[in-house]
Amino acid sequence: MHLTLEFINEKTKGFKPELAIVLGSGLGAFCEGLCGISIPYSDIPGFSPTKVKGHKGELLFCEIYGKKCVIMQGRFHYYEGHPLCQTTFPIKVFKRLGVKKLILTNAAGSLKKELPPGSIMLIDDHINFMGSNPLIGENDDTLGTRFPDMNEVYSKNMQKIFKECAEKLGVELKNGVYCALSGPSYETPAEVKMLSILGGNATGMSTVPEAIVAKYCSIETLGISLITNYAAGLSDVAPNHKEVVEMGNTAGQKLCMVLKEFVKNI
Ligand code: HPA
Repeated sequence: MHLTLEFINEKTKGFKPELAIVLGSGLGAFCEGLCGISIPYSDIPGFSPTKVKGHKGELLFCEIYGKKCVIMQGRFHYYEGHPLCQTTFPIKVFKRLGVKKLILTNAAGSLKKELPPGSIMLIDDHINFMGSNPLIGENDDTLGTRFPDMNEVYSKNMQKIFKECAEKLGVELKNGVYCALSGPSYETPAEVKMLSILGGNATGMSTVPEAIVAKYCSIETLGISLITNYAAGLSDVAPNHKEVVEMGNTAGQKLCMVLKEFVKNI
């Protein structure tokens, strides 16, 4: 951690971001036109390179409407072989840099017919089906408590502001519960049915570990799923990464618009 902070502080000349944004598959367009200091993950001590297609693998330090931001263009996934404490390392780094608020975005499969591809879903809550937890291991008491409460992982206050921004721009929003599985295989139709019965609305392979760590170290978090496809069994088209990235790029445009408005208003 010490080496990471020293490296980042030197590269950014002590830039102190207040807001962190994690961009999921196909949401890279958010950074178009933004100027700042970008650092490839592969250069940062303690960060591992990410090789997922549609993920750039860079940290961008910039100002948006005068707000100091750090943006993760691509994230680390459990299925890449990183332990969860490693996939969430950037969140702990952000905390140490002074970040107070976090926006987590992802591409997700829909578990419900009434949540079609192209929808934007605010994450109300999550179910961790990854089979592990990012806080396993020795606890760092300077970051958070050993047994952190998981009520309101996703900030109602940030949701309210995001809803107002979407309304202003005429963008429809849905709400729901996000289920995280390890991947990398997509779910079977039976698993999709199970997740739906258990109260899930969308399914994916990320976000939950980062959200748990953010709640643990008291970073206020907004979670947003861009629904890119119907999960297995809900349509004739089998889930595939090309479709996920393409839908991310198309429907991602309106999400990027609302996100910018949100950053302006937060
Ligand atoms: N399942 C799991 N993860 C996903 C999906 C899906 O259908 N779509 C995008 N990410």
